[in-house]
Amino acid sequence: MSEAKERPRTAGEMLARAREFLAKKDVPDARLEAELLVAHALGLDRLHLFLALDRPIDDAELARGREFLVRRSKREPTAYILGAREFYGRRVAVSSAVLIPRPETELVVDHARAFARTLAAPPRVGDFGTGSGCLAITLALELAGASVWALDVSSAALAVARANAERLGASVTFVEGDAPSALRAAAGERFDVLVSNPPYVGRDERAALAAEVRDHEPELALFAPEGDPDHWVRRLIADARELIVGGGALFVELGHRQSAAALELARSAGLEARVHLDLARIPRVLEARVPRD
Ligand SMILES: C[S@@+](CC[C@H](N)C(=O)[O-])C[C@H]1O[C@@H](n2cnc3c(N)ncnc32)[C@H](O)[C@@H]1O
Repeated sequence: MSEAKERPRTAGEMLARAREFLAKKDVPDARLEAELLVAHALGLDRLHLFLALDRPIDDAELARGREFLVRRSKREPTAYILGAREFYGRRVAVSSAVLIPRPETELVVDHARAFARTLAAPPRVGDFGTGSGCLAITLALELAGASVWALDVSSAALAVARANAERLGASVTFVEGDAPSALRAAAGERFDVLVSNPPYVGRDERAALAAEVRDHEPELALFAPEGDPDHWVRRLIADARELIVGGGALFVELGHRQSAAALELARSAGLEARVHLDLARIPRVLEARVPRD
């Protein structure tokens, strides 16, 4: 919003100015983003913003709106500015310590939940690399009686995940550690269902990432160790029998180049494996069942 122009007086004027500013800064979806950010600055949701377009705005609201728009023009993701993102119909708080939950990750929940509901007893669920806690918390809330453990190496991410679990009323045991074996050790027994959305971006893909991702989301959440996108899927498959009971299953989110290798690894390890496509027809989730002992 330019200083040279007269100060916007109403929510509607502020919104018009915000749209213009973000479009000029080439922010994708400038219209929608302006609505979200202006609504947030005024303490409203999008719907109520449209019902309040004639509402006068005070200086504090205007200053807040300006701050949000400047941050967005520097490609800070909207979810970090709003402090939240919706996942599986629930509001998950996020900060720059955690990956912003993605819609395609909901597919991990869909398949893990469908599988868990076929089991005779409430499942023991593990989540490796929990970040905001979105997978662990959603499964704890979707699967009655489930016992859920979730691990991350980042204590800052775990603080976000713990706060989310508490606010959403989910019972999850959070563990700090850096390997799937630490999750298993904390739980004491093997899992019926193990889910993971591990870091799987290769270093060679860095330049192709949107600035929002590359410059703002945690490196630890994005990039696979040793520049090998298959690092964690290989490790989870190799350790599957130590981590998961016979008759249980592993669900891992995959990057767009990983499905053939993941299927091959899982089948060579004697697991019954298939890959589920996301809405963009990209092979996205490996489901690998551990044969009964
Ligand atoms: C791609 S993010 C996924 C976060 C969340 N599960 C989601 O789906 O939005 C991967 C997470 O793995 C964590 N991580 C990276 N290396 C790890 C390690 N060695 N041990 C445990 N967690 C790790 C990161 O801190 C990050 O929170």
